Amino acid sequence: MRAPRHRAELTEVTRGTPMGELLRRYWHPIGLVGDAGEVPHKVRALGEDLILFRDAKGCAGLLHARCCHRGTTLYYGKVEEKGLRCCYHGWLFDTQGHCLEQPCEPQGGLFKDKVRQPWYPLEERYGLIFAYMGPLTKKPVLPRYDCLETMDAGEFVEADDTSLGGGGPAIIPCNWLQHYENIVDPFHVPVLHGSFSGPQFTTMMASMPQVSFETSPRGVLVRSTRRQEDGKVFARVTEAGLPTLRVVPNPRVAEFARVESIGWVLPIDDTSFRIYVAGRVKQQGDIDRMRSKFNGKFWWDMTEEEHQRFPGDYEAQVGQGPITVHSEEHFGQSDRGILMLRRVLQAELEAVAAGRDPIGVSFDREAPSVVFEAGNFMREA
Ligand code: FES
Ligand SMILES: [Fe+2]
Repeated sequence: MRAPRHRAELTEVTRGTPMGELLRRYWHPIGLVGDAGEVPHKVRALGEDLILFRDAKGCAGLLHARCCHRGTTLYYGKVEEKGLRCCYHGWLFDTQGHCLEQPCEPQGGLFKDKVRQPWYPLEERYGLIFAYMGPLTKKPVLPRYDCLETMDAGEFVEADDTSLGGGGPAIIPCNWLQHYENIVDPFHVPVLHGSFSGPQFTTMMASMPQVSFETSPRGVLVRSTRRQEDGKVFARVTEAGLPTLRVVPNPRVAEFARVESIGWVLPIDDTSFRIYVAGRVKQQGDIDRMRSKFNGKFWWDMTEEEHQRFPGDYEAQVGQGPITVHSEEHFGQSDRGILMLRRVLQAELEAVAAGRDPIGVSFDREAPSVVFEAGNFMREA
């Protein structure tokens, strides 16, 4: 057998790698609004260790964890009115990394203007804190999404940071692309979530769909249709929006409507990721209540044997290994969406390498909200 290989350019996310640089051209959620407070909070994103905090003026900051003086972590720092003070020698940094004080130096620090703690711009929206970790001159506008801007009666937006729809821990120990590709894999639904583990979602989703894949202005779009016994057609549209957006309507099909939530896959590093979700809800905690149960139990309450008997997305995706071995895959007709998504990602890697802006970024503050096609719809035949 040949030596196994994974496609490093599509999966690896650290600074200077092709995908790392593509991902750094977009905003990523790195925490819930409440994560930024007066106690420093650890964040790991795209392979970088960072510290999130909120100064006394209410301004959130995201600094590199290692202090630019002699490298201890700012995790043990103290949040003050003007910024975060390192515990070791007391250098004080504001939310943009400016060094305001060097208390051990003559006159409070004669070279404090010459040092700068690495920092990233933040914006808060939809209950989430978004960071931009790319070149400042290329910083796009943080997009607005119509499905989180336009409310139906009684709705408001709620954010959640623990959601792998099917259950699992907050931090998933495998490469982010394994989850992202799952969005354009509608055929796993009737197998993994339909027959294998009993109908995990709804019987409507358990039958094999007719599927078409297409590229969209934002990524890849999947149309699945299922003819119902009464002759009507259940049409489901899901979208993978670059770079990491999971635009998937409720698989429990509570109502026939436009998509109610967006998930962002945050690559923590090459071999782990987490998901942030923001969605329209009618009651606090609705996103949490959407979590699947298996055999009547939550994922974390199951025994090892129950995980084998009732596997879900976590088992299937983590089961592909820390980074799946791309050189050993065998693609069929049903994998067209995955191949399309990889081609789209590959094209955007090339666009960035050639100095162009990747798809979906906008520098226009007045740009209208992004409207997705995603949703569950019932049509007359
Ligand atoms: S290591 Fe942070 S102030 Fe010295
Ligand atoms: Fe799934």
